[in-house]
Amino acid sequence: MKTVAVIGAGQMGAGITQVVAQAGITVLLSDIDLTSAERGKATVGKALERLVGRGKLDPAEVDIVLARIRPVADYAPMIEADLIIEAATEKEEVKRKIFAGVTPFLAPNAIMASNTSSIPITRMAASTPDPSRFIGLHFFNPVPVMGLIEVIPGLATSKDTVARMRVFAEHLRKQVVQCEDEPGFVVNRILLPMINEAVFVLGQGTGNILDIDKGCRLGLNHPMGPLELADFVGLDTCLGIVRVLYETTGDSKYRPAPLLVKYVEAGWLGRKTGRGFYDYSGDAPVPTR
Ligand code: 3HC
Repeated sequence: MKTVAVIGAGQMGAGITQVVAQAGITVLLSDIDLTSAERGKATVGKALERLVGRGKLDPAEVDIVLARIRPVADYAPMIEADLIIEAATEKEEVKRKIFAGVTPFLAPNAIMASNTSSIPITRMAASTPDPSRFIGLHFFNPVPVMGLIEVIPGLATSKDTVARMRVFAEHLRKQVVQCEDEPGFVVNRILLPMINEAVFVLGQGTGNILDIDKGCRLGLNHPMGPLELADFVGLDTCLGIVRVLYETTGDSKYRPAPLLVKYVEAGWLGRKTGRGFYDYSGDAPVPTR
């Protein structure tokens, strides 16, 4: 694989761009406009500098890796890509619009992948001209650190597409878990009910924010407690996934915790807005309840 296009230069898109470029592959990076795509490249630059600062990357590598990243203003250059990865916001209508826009520039043998965390792959594939070349490629945040990619074939995804994505993931030095196209796939199907339950526990006053997180950090050896992890992922993203689980299964065990809905309605979306279950405006995070 020589060239990969990444659509969406936010947290996930920038992380994906970084690991792909570090693996020696050219990346065409796009977002709603060129400035946003360039901002995504700058995010990668800062992450690479941090690696240099920690002695994890040769300083000479920074410019080499950055030279592989080409911010683009539109989809036309993506005709060169062997793989197009959509990593835009987790809204189906936004993703569908992207697939429709990029389809004229999907090369005859190229693959189109979505980094969706919960939207059914088969349903999105059906809106593309060749569902056999459409697949779910679910990265985890922070992408450069997390060792997993979930590979999710839709009903019509070909074996060849799956095999090529496995080789690609290995090239990025990630391990693969292949999942059926079921709500939440494997990891989020397990993670999001845990986060949602932590918010029920908070709402019912069983424990406070610090104790819920401390309990899971020390009692389960998780690197982050569920509420700090929710802030890290984004509360709107968490709620979106819980809603997909609830709506697609109809199972009441996935109903969103009312307090999670309240935080999202308040615009307290976690780290990205400076406040979620914790307030990040000071030197150290402070619980908001
Ligand atoms: N980008 C790149 N590298 C990062 C990073 C980032 N944003 N944040 C931390 N790192 C690296 C550091 O450089 C460091 O590397 P080193 O050990 O080689 O020096 C290492 O990660 C540890 O970092 P720190 O010592 O600064 O901090 P922590 O030890 O607290 O680790 C963490 C930070 C890696 C984020 C850790 O807390 C963690 O693993 N948290 C859980 C993350 C998680 O569960 N992610 C999955 C979320 S779910 C998801 O993404 C799916 C989606 O669909 C919802």
